[in-house]
Amino acid sequence: MRRPQAVVTGAGVRIGRAIALELAASGFEVAVHYRGSSVSAEETAHACVEAGGAAWTVQADLGTPEGCEALTAAVSAHAPGVHVLVNNASIFEPVPFESLDLAAWERMQAINLRAPFLVSRGLLPQLRTAEACDIGGPADQGGLVVHLCDIGADRPVSGYAHYSVSKAGLVMLVRAMAVELAPRVRTVGISPGQVMWPEWYDEKLRTKLEKRIPMGRAGGGEDCARLVRFLAKEAFYLNGVVIPVDGGLSLRY
Ligand SMILES: NC(=O)c1ccc[n+]([C@@H]2O[C@H](COP(=O)([O-])OP(=O)(O)OC[C@H]3O[C@@H](n4cnc5c(N)ncnc54)[C@H](OP(=O)(O)O)[C@@H]3O)[C@@H](O)[C@H]2O)c1
Repeated sequence: MRRPQAVVTGAGVRIGRAIALELAASGFEVAVHYRGSSVSAEETAHACVEAGGAAWTVQADLGTPEGCEALTAAVSAHAPGVHVLVNNASIFEPVPFESLDLAAWERMQAINLRAPFLVSRGLLPQLRTAEACDIGGPADQGGLVVHLCDIGADRPVSGYAHYSVSKAGLVMLVRAMAVELAPRVRTVGISPGQVMWPEWYDEKLRTKLEKRIPMGRAGGGEDCARLVRFLAKEAFYLNGVVIPVDGGLSLRY
């Protein structure tokens, strides 16, 4: 029997890689999407196979509608059903509001908000065709879409207006899709807090930020990954919620 199918965008590195590995370890065949990280994506795919799953890589720039279309076309040609789509790819770049130009604004919305919409819409036939019963779910259900949001969608961080707006839009996309596409297709959001540090956060800043987290430490990609597995394989009645993975940080704002 063919393995259940998963698609993870931005899966070459960090949180996306952890999600791809977790899904592979629970038996999925994973489409490991990447834009520029080809070597890391190949390594992720290899690690997926080592973990007991299957994987293939697919390149696409999700900053353009054509790139989103190329991804959905490649996935649709590969398998008739998609059991899990994880919209993880994103950019996170600070720009002070007064110097935020139109190009930076539009690029942010294109990658962080438009792409999850276009990829979800493009894969809708595959999400509807998938059978949740292949992975232990009810007979009338199909696929699951997970959008990686951010606790900053509710409480903006200074210097990230364009990013915060994109993630706030993504939270509403979770809710809108959940209402319109269920019961066949479920949609859930995951909002990380400090899960994997941006490279430019130095040790001093990391220590300062960690002190604000009730759990006393940053999380890891595997914390998001285990939640994706739970949503995909066990939580068949969860739809339209956005779940923080933040060690309680959002309570402290
Ligand atoms: N890290 C955290 O603690 C944290 C906190 C809150 C929310 N989140 C959310 O969780 C998700 C994963 O976070 P992360 O820190 O692991 O992400 P990341 O490392 O910043 O980026 C993930 C991937 O996005 C891909 N990407 C960027 N621009 C793209 C484009 N134009 N087309 C296609 N792919 C593109 C990149 O692929 P390539 O490398 O192949 O170019 C990159 O590997 C994101 O949605 C992020 O907003 C993370």
